[in-house]
Amino acid sequence: MAESLKTIDVEVLRYRPEQESEPVWQRYTVPYTDDMSVLQALQQIKDDQDGSLSFRWSCRMAICGSCGMMVNGKPHLSCQTFLRDLLPGPVRIEALTHFPIERDLVVSVDGFVKKLEGIQPYIIPKEPRTLAQGEYLQTPAQLEQFEQFSGCINCMLCYSACPQFGLDPSFTGPGVLALLHRYNADSRDGGQAQRMEVLGSTEGVWNCTAVGYCSEVCPKGVDPANAVNQNKVNSAKDYFLRFLGPEGGQAEHAGRIGRT
Ligand code: FES
Repeated sequence: MAESLKTIDVEVLRYRPEQESEPVWQRYTVPYTDDMSVLQALQQIKDDQDGSLSFRWSCRMAICGSCGMMVNGKPHLSCQTFLRDLLPGPVRIEALTHFPIERDLVVSVDGFVKKLEGIQPYIIPKEPRTLAQGEYLQTPAQLEQFEQFSGCINCMLCYSACPQFGLDPSFTGPGVLALLHRYNADSRDGGQAQRMEVLGSTEGVWNCTAVGYCSEVCPKGVDPANAVNQNKVNSAKDYFLRFLGPEGGQAEHAGRIGRT
């Protein structure tokens, strides 16, 4: 005998600026199977119940970082969160907190992208090499210094988990600080001096109040709180080395930054 169709109630915080001045809750009843994710529930609603529902997604496999949202009050990737773990429902879904809502579950990423651009999230070679000179070589020990922090997918869940970012949106924030550390700790990189300006600024690493929830919600195990702590050590070193004059600071940037 065929299994009877199971359903779960899903409540979505809707915001359509052309018809609502404030977000409003809307409830849908979704047929589901045990292998369905929250993202698939939203797709069922959009395909079969309400085509006006807006949300972002792309890869459906926790890679692209675009499907972040609040599920029952916590930041999650909706493609990696399963309805079977949220029974009996209702499941409450909202846009990521601390970000301006553009529409329904779609938030503005402009501030985040600007911060990301500000740290130059790419390797700035210490000495440019020609193709004939070959690759920039690195030992396993040098790779280990930054590898964990290179797993960030820019999903911004850590920003929704960060109370300090909620209080002060100008705070550089956990994800960008983790990526800043990822490049500063890379033995091939020579851009530490520029990034130190961001670290030590009023929006920089000293704004962090060390709550640590950012690392709990990170879907990739990046541990931004650990990166922030290492950044604090490096920023403090940089501050004191400035008293030694430009040579002392440059020697530190060239030789020891990131090896805390
Ligand atoms: Fe790409 Fe979820 S859809 S991370």
